[in-house]
Amino acid sequence: MNIAFQEAKKGKSTWTNPQVGAVIVKDGKILAQGHHEKFGGPHAEVNTLNKLEYISDAKGADMYVTLEPCSHFGKTPPCVQRVTEVGIKRVFIGMQDPNPIVSGNGIKYLKDHNIEVEVCNDTGDINEAYIFYYQNKRPLITVKYAMSVDGKINKTGHHRTIITGEEAYEDAQKLRSENQAILIGEHTVIIDNPQLTVRNREMDFPPIRVVVVRDVNTVEFGYKIFQNDGIKTLIFSQTKSRRRLPENVEVAVRDDWTPDKIVEELAQRNIESLLVEGGSKLQAEFVHAGLVDKVVTYIAPKLFGGASLPAVQGDYRSSEIDFEETEITKLGSDLKIELRRSK
Ligand SMILES: NC(=O)c1ccc[n+]([C@@H]2O[C@H](COP(=O)([O-])OP(=O)(O)OC[C@H]3O[C@@H](n4cnc5c(N)ncnc54)[C@H](OP(=O)(O)O)[C@@H]3O)[C@@H](O)[C@H]2O)c1
Repeated sequence: MNIAFQEAKKGKSTWTNPQVGAVIVKDGKILAQGHHEKFGGPHAEVNTLNKLEYISDAKGADMYVTLEPCSHFGKTPPCVQRVTEVGIKRVFIGMQDPNPIVSGNGIKYLKDHNIEVEVCNDTGDINEAYIFYYQNKRPLITVKYAMSVDGKINKTGHHRTIITGEEAYEDAQKLRSENQAILIGEHTVIIDNPQLTVRNREMDFPPIRVVVVRDVNTVEFGYKIFQNDGIKTLIFSQTKSRRRLPENVEVAVRDDWTPDKIVEELAQRNIESLLVEGGSKLQAEFVHAGLVDKVVTYIAPKLFGGASLPAVQGDYRSSEIDFEETEITKLGSDLKIELRRSK
């Protein structure tokens, strides 16, 4: 199964599909190994069967697959049907699929067709957001910011402050690439004018950009995130747009875009992971709503002092979210702290 997990991790473009790997073994020998390569493409089981020299070799063989094989017609025919047809004798499954369309049905189909099934209940440390999404019916939310040692994310004045160095920047690009949507508040658009794209990496499915504003009609479309670079930008606004929108921009309207509603809307759009990238007010809203599962903060060896902007500040009584897993990494002269929420 460990080889199957290693295979699964090779799938870099699975988007909202899980990463899945499979290995076919017969008489103590690995005959084929493969993975789900790309969203919409063949699943790991089929890719692996296709790698056999002769399909007849599958007869009587064992298959190790990291996730329960699917049993429904989606973008591809059900894997269980193919696994059954070719005569696989036993299937070892990493974990049952948390997606209700599949969950338990794939296992049942295999057993009903006289295939021995063993479930290992091991995630292999992959598909964190996928599993979270189906268990919690919302995306896994990571709040990320760079700050000075006195907890400030910008100096005074309406300009962007570059806080951390090159290594932290590169790491933040990787973090973006691991999320399906990136959310920012309106002031961050105006002050930082970020592009919110993943640099230095080719991505088949880059994260969509989401910005929350009061009134879309007051938003200037000259900012970088509204440029038509092939990546979608979704604006959550309290008003309908009276103007023609740039080609890649969509507006979703409701009169109270609270974090719960933002997250609910993204969940309906199958977004399994959300990166909240500032600013201070928007982060405060998410903390107040208790909607923070992970924090990634990059801390620079600097003090800003004065009235510079704290990382999380809103007009609320303070609340508390406790985190249990902490990882600290040194990145150049900066520190990265990663926190995972206590269960
Ligand atoms: N160091 C870092 O990592 C980092 C990252 C990002 C940003 N920043 C800094 O953070 C600063 C911006 O932070 P900020 O706290 O001033 O602003 P912000 O959080 O970016 O945006 C807040 C504004 O967005 C709109 N908004 C937020 N939530 C909303 C909701 N639920 N419904 C409707 N509108 C909503 C509101 O606009 P209105 O009040 O206009 O209605 C609100 O004032 C900038 O200086 C930027 O440089 C730093």
